[in-house]
Amino acid sequence: MGTGKTVAGRLAAEALRLPFFDLDEVIEARANMPVAEIFAQAGEPEFRRMERRAVLDAARLSGAAVATGGGAVLDGESFGALAEGAVVSLLAARPEEVVRRVGESGERPLLVPDAPGRTRELLEARAPAYAAAGEALDTTELTPGEVAAEIAARYRAVAGSGEAARIPVEGPDGPYPVVIGTGAVDRLGEELAEALPGLRGVAVAADETVDRGAGERVSVALQRAGIRVAARIALPAGEAAKSVEVEAALWSQFRDAGLERSDAVVAVGGGAALDAAGFAAATYARGLALVNVPTTLLAMVDAALGGKVGIDHAGVKNLVGVFHHPRLVVTDPSTLASLSPRALRAGLAEVVKALLLASPLALDRLSSLEVAPTHADGTPRHLVWAVEQAVRVKAAYVADDPRDRGVRQALNLGHTFAHAIEAATDCAVPHGEAVAIGLMAASRLGAAAGVTPPETPELLLSVLTKLGLPTEPPAALNRERLLTAMLSDKKRRSGRAVFVVPAPGGAAGLEGVEPEQALALLLPGRTLRP
Ligand SMILES: NC(=O)c1ccc[n+]([C@@H]2O[C@H](COP(=O)([O-])OP(=O)(O)OC[C@H]3O[C@@H](n4cnc5c(N)ncnc54)[C@H](O)[C@@H]3O)[C@@H](O)[C@H]2O)c1
Repeated sequence: MGTGKTVAGRLAAEALRLPFFDLDEVIEARANMPVAEIFAQAGEPEFRRMERRAVLDAARLSGAAVATGGGAVLDGESFGALAEGAVVSLLAARPEEVVRRVGESGERPLLVPDAPGRTRELLEARAPAYAAAGEALDTTELTPGEVAAEIAARYRAVAGSGEAARIPVEGPDGPYPVVIGTGAVDRLGEELAEALPGLRGVAVAADETVDRGAGERVSVALQRAGIRVAARIALPAGEAAKSVEVEAALWSQFRDAGLERSDAVVAVGGGAALDAAGFAAATYARGLALVNVPTTLLAMVDAALGGKVGIDHAGVKNLVGVFHHPRLVVTDPSTLASLSPRALRAGLAEVVKALLLASPLALDRLSSLEVAPTHADGTPRHLVWAVEQAVRVKAAYVADDPRDRGVRQALNLGHTFAHAIEAATDCAVPHGEAVAIGLMAASRLGAAAGVTPPETPELLLSVLTKLGLPTEPPAALNRERLLTAMLSDKKRRSGRAVFVVPAPGGAAGLEGVEPEQALALLLPGRTLRP
């Protein structure tokens, strides 16, 4: 208390270019009243309960600066979760300086009625917890700027200057990195030489829309690093790439280019291009190494990692496919600059889903995002951070469930609704928008069942609205088609639809929900066409 956590913390975050979270502010926003009033109305135990939740939510973030309240260290379990893998700076000051800084105001409920006496008591009582929490930094003689500089130096000493994030994903041959950073595509050659030492040549297969952009950057970067580009292949744009005919053409071009088992395929594009080129890599010569360079938001946070590759067949999406993890994923948000605002927004729905699984704090931060990709480097700053959080979420689920048989199902959050909406509108509602509507319905369903925190639907509504995403399905929805689609969803278990809904710390599957009840939550207050 009174050691400058908020002021110095904010300055340090700015210097480090990290998003900043002040947990007292988070708690005040959630309770819609100042801390002093929470103490007065609900008492300290209720405040500590709220603080514990905020600390645990913050513990699920990465690459962020967090200021906690002075009492947060008292809850060893939640503070331990936050401190794990973090750089902790324990700000201290001489008791008389603390009293001078916070004054005798009633804003600090713990210091009432005798501030000097209470300060000494508190410091004494908390001394063991503080001693265990981290290395103290005495701020008595320092300005906030000097404190911030010290915090930033401590962080840099551990985390480096943070040009690009590297997130390991567990694959069958050990972990592979997802490298995220603006300009990362231009360093692909060096990354690949490190990931696959001794690599001779590659085929670059890019969605035709990005072939001259990201595809060209990839080729230049590879050649500069001395890696031979044996073939440059342009794939039909989007879903059209996921066909047997395109696969046959890819296999032929691999053969004409003389690709061997020690060579690799670099896939560039959205989820469709990565699925198609990945499937060709998995099947040619019993498996070539695969490198993914995603160029849509959906591909960055979902399709590029996790190992699922495949094509559509007989009118069924993803009917034929295998698991084939990439050896390296290079995610460069500057490649998003050519996406239309609508396409970017649609991809944001998947980011929202991932952040809902990550932490409500991350989700809240997303709502301050400027969506138009018109920034100098083509990339809104929060978006890069949000992509990183989303990739970490998927990486964590993939590590726990490499073959998609259990907990990875959490990634289907909101998708039972989304697929039903897509089916009932013959895909007139694009996937991303359907996901947004589905997330909204899933959170209402979860809140009604007592599984989803009660404030989640409101937070989600505000985030989706700010991002320009729909939260309700179009008016002309056919009720029977929706019901049929919900019941035929592949996430059914023993004949009953499973709805994945937000839950504290992730998601939970709800079974036994009556489809009629689910429909009512999809369309609150609306009568559907029979
Ligand atoms: N393998 C997985 O784990 C996984 C996960 C989710 C989705 N998917 C698959 O991903 C596909 C959807 O992916 P998507 O949403 O990325 O769509 P997409 O790959 O179909 O791309 C959408 C459109 O954007 C264009 N495009 C791509 N990058 C661009 C850029 N930077 N600038 C301008 N235009 C660009 C494409 O040409 C296409 O027309 C589906 O086939 C889905 O089945 C796979």
